[in-house]
Amino acid sequence: MPVIAVVGNKGGAGKTTLCVNLAAGLSQQGRVAIIDADPQGSSLQWHDVAEMSDSVSVFASTAALPQLVRELAGSFEFLIVDCPPSVQAPQTVDVLQAADLALIPVQPSPVDLWATVHIENAIGNARVVNPELKSMLVINQLEARTTLSRVVREALTEISLPVAKTALRRRAVYRNSALEGKTVFQMGARGAAAAEELEQLIQEVTG
Ligand SMILES: Nc1ncnc2c1ncn2[C@@H]1O[C@H](COP(=O)(O)OP(=O)(O)OP(=O)(O)O)[C@@H](O)[C@H]1O
Ligand SMILES: [Mg+2]
Repeated sequence: MPVIAVVGNKGGAGKTTLCVNLAAGLSQQGRVAIIDADPQGSSLQWHDVAEMSDSVSVFASTAALPQLVRELAGSFEFLIVDCPPSVQAPQTVDVLQAADLALIPVQPSPVDLWATVHIENAIGNARVVNPELKSMLVINQLEARTTLSRVVREALTEISLPVAKTALRRRAVYRNSALEGKTVFQMGARGAAAAEELEQLIQEVTG
């Protein structure tokens, strides 16, 4: 069972958005569990109103996160963990030690990209006990119809974390679906472009 940790060092980067929509996309391939390891509990809140309960299960993180991961391993094909906005948080440290892949949503701003150096370090530390841990930055909230600016491309060359070829664009449907307690996959035509980019991302990270 692949364990995907969605991590970051900054609030509002899109961790919960990525988690919930990734879970919905992956649920077409198998049973998916989300562990909400963020004490803010936003995945759990979302799930309270979401209509995705039969395909995706959401669990609150317990004190013993590695144990919860082991318990769920037999029952789910994918496990996605929504982490708090700090790589120093004990939850994030625990999750990175148990994960196969860390996905790091980051906005395409040079400042945000430079700040990922802390994440790089946290991943390096986790690899001491979890040498197989893979990681990937996911550009999130890329302005519609634009490409990455030169400064952003330059900033990307300065960091050694791999970057997903698929970026998620800034789309109102990510916000609106959340307000309706849905994922973009449940938004019909309004969510089609977002669903498509998520499917592409899923191919990239699971293929
Ligand atoms: N690609 C996108 N397009 C438009 N809005 C987005 C996109 N990604 C995220 N958002 C919006 O940005 C806000 C922050 O996103 P989200 O809550 O997923 O971030 P987070 O990293 O989980 O934040 P926190 O660290 O506080 O848990 C939300 O209102 C969300 O709807
Ligand atoms: Mg969140």
